[in-house]
Amino acid sequence: MRMQVRTHSNVTHIDFLPLAELQERLPSKAVIVTDDVVSKLVESDHRRVTVPSGEPSKSMSTYVDVVQQILSLGIDRNTIIVALGGGVVGDLAGFVAATILRGVTFLQVPTTLLAMVDSSIGGKVGVDTPQGKNLVGAFKPADQVLICPEFLDQLPARQLTNGMAEVWKYGFIGNAPELEKLRGGQSPLTEIIFDCLDHKARVVEEDEFETSGLRATLNYGHTVGHAIEKVLGYEMFLHGEAISIGMVVEARLGELIGLTEPGTAAQVAEDLASAGLPISWDGLRDTEPLIAAMRSDKKATGGNLAFSLLTRLGDCKLVRDVDQESVRAALTA
Ligand SMILES: NC(=O)c1ccc[n+]([C@@H]2O[C@H](COP(=O)([O-])OP(=O)(O)OC[C@H]3O[C@@H](n4cnc5c(N)ncnc54)[C@H](O)[C@@H]3O)[C@@H](O)[C@H]2O)c1
Ligand SMILES: [Zn+2]
Repeated sequence: MRMQVRTHSNVTHIDFLPLAELQERLPSKAVIVTDDVVSKLVESDHRRVTVPSGEPSKSMSTYVDVVQQILSLGIDRNTIIVALGGGVVGDLAGFVAATILRGVTFLQVPTTLLAMVDSSIGGKVGVDTPQGKNLVGAFKPADQVLICPEFLDQLPARQLTNGMAEVWKYGFIGNAPELEKLRGGQSPLTEIIFDCLDHKARVVEEDEFETSGLRATLNYGHTVGHAIEKVLGYEMFLHGEAISIGMVVEARLGELIGLTEPGTAAQVAEDLASAGLPISWDGLRDTEPLIAAMRSDKKATGGNLAFSLLTRLGDCKLVRDVDQESVRAALTA
């Protein structure tokens, strides 16, 4: 299976392949950037820079460290940076690829479900700073994405479920993957990953730099989800778990302001709960820190809160001027 994503700066070629073929697909000029957990899953003779697994590696200090290690290998403009890992490695290595020697070829090998269906395409790369997540970065779409679904056999169950939150999100906001397919639980994961990538690819091709509001619709569940992550200091919940709660709250919010078909929130909650994802959290009652965090969301303008809200299952739109009273009500309902 293959696919292409045409962006402003390049064409990203996406290939699905067996893990056994991965090593021969990596160019000899590649420098692999990976983490210490994923590193053990792939044997190859390529030059390799390894960072500790986990979000703290998506930092300015690790970025500097990785750049210095790669430069000391004696690279040139034909060197290819390969991100082998989850979203943390993808974002970090992508930022290195965007900046080292003013930009070199970038290849992504996503190894988590979240990275396969979301972070490996679309070009957003970067690192976190003490002031917040993803505050320094670039648009650097990968030239190639190699997807080996077999990596998911090694992935801890909680991380797999975490990625499923983004999969359900695609189902809720658009027509692929079909919700019936997800509910049935019979479709091969490879097919589901393909549907999600296809959905994101179409959105990115139309609105790469988030100017029309289309790409912002991919943020369904994320205004509330990001606020939960921020208030909790990125511990307790993984990203997908936080946006799972966020999707339920935002469906409720849509119903409250008369945009979302009644009954949608209950269906979203039922689907996410059946996938093993959290759908509520006691801390939602403490509304003010969450609303303060939402005000700093990138979609918010002039103090107004913005949300990607469902109109019904399978359709959504960006709403920019949601009143805070409704948000409070949706959080505490
Ligand atoms: N660039 C984007 O568009 C975009 C989109 C969504 C998320 N992100 C970013 O992605 C990051 C989260 O990515 P993630 O959820 O993949 O987390 P991650 O990269 O931290 O990976 C999760 C854990 O799984 C381990 N792991 C990875 N692959 C494995 C495998 N096959 N088998 C066993 N263990 C494996 C990792 O070592 C890590 O401990 C966040 O920093 C987020 O901001 C970026
Ligand atoms: Zn997300």
